[in-house]
Amino acid sequence: MRQALVVGNWKMHGSRASVDDLLSDLVQGSRIPGTEVVVCPAYVHLAQVQAACISASISVGAQDCSHLQSGAFTGEVAPLMLSDLGCRWVILGHSERRQYHDESDEIVAAKLSAALDAGLQPIVCVGETREQREAGSAEIVVGAQLQGALTGQTNLETLVVAYEPVWAIGTGLTATPKQAQEMHAFIRTCLQQIAGVDASATRVLYGGSVKVNNAAQLFAQPDIDGALVGGAALIAEDFLTIINAASAP
Ligand code: 13P
Repeated sequence: MRQALVVGNWKMHGSRASVDDLLSDLVQGSRIPGTEVVVCPAYVHLAQVQAACISASISVGAQDCSHLQSGAFTGEVAPLMLSDLGCRWVILGHSERRQYHDESDEIVAAKLSAALDAGLQPIVCVGETREQREAGSAEIVVGAQLQGALTGQTNLETLVVAYEPVWAIGTGLTATPKQAQEMHAFIRTCLQQIAGVDASATRVLYGGSVKVNNAAQLFAQPDIDGALVGGAALIAEDFLTIINAASAP
């Protein structure tokens, strides 16, 4: 039985004051049995969020990390710095990193390996563009991303995969529950084949315009174990509603 997981990716949003406001609402409302909740603020807010969540049932994650351990790499943040801070999770290979920072599958693989070594729980993002879906190559693209990130990796017991179709991120377009379920089932097959992980025990999240009005239908699919939420995670009431939808039997 896979526990539902809802992750808020706050991206490059917020100030110390707005983070405090959001957290005070979330901490009060997020004691929801059955669902694990994670929030991923910007690096500069991690310590603040970590301190506020220490006695709450919310875990903290980063949105990225370096593939390197330490050294003269200006602007980078090492995975061990994150675990040292009490951060438990890290998002890797988000399409915005792939698109705007030229992250290749090789870099995602190196980051995954470094994150696992530091004891972080990785959320590896995969997903196709609109052109790729229209060309009928969505599964080929997602399969190749998984192959690139996971081949040769070990200790993947804590791995979480997030399927985030690029065309659904921040656009208000969501994959239909059927489209998402089909891809999630495919991802589970790949996990078994590529990395030999117990795919029946690995959580696969959906991300891309998850909102209050579509979350329940997505979570009703057998292979969707929760969500990676962007915009709606910045509105406490909406995020709590989505968490509740994930907890529903
Ligand atoms: P939106 O929910 O804003 O579409 O963002 C999804 C996402 O990219 C989460 O990582």
